[in-house]
Amino acid sequence: MMILAFPDYLSQAQSLATRLDAPLVEVVLHHFPDSESLIRLPPLLPEHLIICRSLNHPNDKLIELLLCATTARELGAKRLTLVAPYLCYMRQDIANQPGEAVSQRIIGKLLAELFDDVLTVDPHLHRISLLTQAIPIKNAISLTAADQIGVFLKTKFNHALLLGPDSESEQWVAAIAGNIGFGYAIADKIRLGDKQVEISLPDGDFAKQPVVIIDDIASTGRTLAKAAGLLQGAGCKDIYAVITHALFCDDAYNHILEAGVKTIWSTDSIDHPSSCIKLDSLLAKAIKAIT
Ligand code: R5P
Repeated sequence: MMILAFPDYLSQAQSLATRLDAPLVEVVLHHFPDSESLIRLPPLLPEHLIICRSLNHPNDKLIELLLCATTARELGAKRLTLVAPYLCYMRQDIANQPGEAVSQRIIGKLLAELFDDVLTVDPHLHRISLLTQAIPIKNAISLTAADQIGVFLKTKFNHALLLGPDSESEQWVAAIAGNIGFGYAIADKIRLGDKQVEISLPDGDFAKQPVVIIDDIASTGRTLAKAAGLLQGAGCKDIYAVITHALFCDDAYNHILEAGVKTIWSTDSIDHPSSCIKLDSLLAKAIKAIT
């Protein structure tokens, strides 16, 4: 077995390699002036390769994964495992208007054709419950960071209320709250545009304890910012946020802080200054279970 790491996921892949006691090689990646990609793999590969890359900024990364997996097969690799803690294109699971691409199904099929196993963490599954419905291979494995986030929160708070900003978040918020015995509440959200969301808080007294907003993704940051603004309006003085995947597009991170969130913490699925909750033990355990 060999770990093959893309440069943007190198430090996390190194931790994983240490846990698996496996050699790690970095993929050589070059971007030409017109933004085409060149990738180079070691010419001598073992039978089983574990390719590590989180799929934020997905369009370039998917092409590079296609080049990587195809080349690895040509070089003789027999089993390809993709470790992509953040899995892209999972949110578009229906055609909202006639003619729209259902990207979850299309990208899922592509990954199923390229890889024997796909491991990810808290993918955004909404209208389906199993990752195998999106990626039709036996080993499409959806892990959850609920334990890691719960353990982390216990180091920061004796008690706090966990708030999910929308109905989809309940799956993660309920699991974390159940693990550590904290209370939780779920808000209602309607998305009106990329940077426009309407949220209504559930009934409750938000003034008497810290509130930690929990979500899987912060992209534009508008969801977390809107929730934080409402919490402030409801008298909450201690607002924090934990997210699994720190996409943080453009001004998102500062926008959330300016809305009154004191600290944002995230997992290291994507490298960011907020990424302090490590996923290496979760991923290593899952890889050991399938090898
Ligand atoms: C969607 O339902 C997700 O769980 C997140 O709430 C959403 O992706 C966050 O997006 P943004 O940061 O752009 O509001």
